[in-house]
Amino acid sequence: MRRPGGAEPRPGRPALASDLGELRAALGPGPRTVVMTMGAIHQGHLDLVAAAARHRAQDGGQVVVTIFVNPLQFGPGEDFDAYPRTLQADLEALAPSGADLVYAPSAEDMYPDGPPRAVIDPGPLGRVFEGAIRPGHFAGVATVVCKLAARTGATRAVFGQKDAQQLAVVRQMVADLDLGWQVSAVPTRREADGLALSSRNRYLTASQRQAALARPRASAAGRHTAAQQAPASQERPAARRALGRGPEPAFPDYLELVDPATFDPVDDQWRGRAWLIGALKIGRTRLIDNAEVALGA
Ligand code: PAF
Repeated sequence: MRRPGGAEPRPGRPALASDLGELRAALGPGPRTVVMTMGAIHQGHLDLVAAAARHRAQDGGQVVVTIFVNPLQFGPGEDFDAYPRTLQADLEALAPSGADLVYAPSAEDMYPDGPPRAVIDPGPLGRVFEGAIRPGHFAGVATVVCKLAARTGATRAVFGQKDAQQLAVVRQMVADLDLGWQVSAVPTRREADGLALSSRNRYLTASQRQAALARPRASAAGRHTAAQQAPASQERPAARRALGRGPEPAFPDYLELVDPATFDPVDDQWRGRAWLIGALKIGRTRLIDNAEVALGA
């Protein structure tokens, strides 16, 4: 087990484990609350770590943050090579976060025999919306989440609501396969102008960033329409209209109101919570964002 940058151990900073052996040596006996990331740590991730630390205060044990850009969840032509890899900056960002341990393995450590032959099929939930546009994505996510949870001995894992479909896939997998660890969710962290924090925001030019604000505008329109007791069939067009035209074209891959558990589109009889889910393509960047709306409240 090493400390970031090979430095002398500094009290209060998380230890760094770069392979499975170092991880095993660093894991303590108690519960483990795990935050899984692909790095490029931002305040949204730090919110997850803060939530994990609150669980540790109740349950004891360790907070483990994993950093791994998982090749299994990227399709051909996607941004696997371009995805930011900023380990030293991530370790600095995590230093005061309350994490006990950072596990940042290489691909060889995670998949010593190459891509795994056994992968998790996330079922129907993994084939709609993000799963339809990125075939195999959720199988890659479910497989690595399962593997990271097994390696860290997770008793709980904390995920962001920004990736609402990922969260639903993970919840389903844990329930269906009796994996036995708890799943906690943390609300999306946003910039002052409403843009959801994402590691991919750094790909955007200034005018693309302005265009990306179409997405929070659509959520606000959806919420506004819902607050007027309008049925689901009126919210979709209201949200789509609000996408409007920004300084650069923003192409919605999808924008839909869905049941938070199944991701089936909701109808006008739906009462209660729904997710307004959406993905926008701006230039070469895809941004996803999701907002909760209360229908017929
Ligand atoms: O949300 C992410 O960053 C990734 O999909 C995850 C959960 C770390 C799996 O690689």
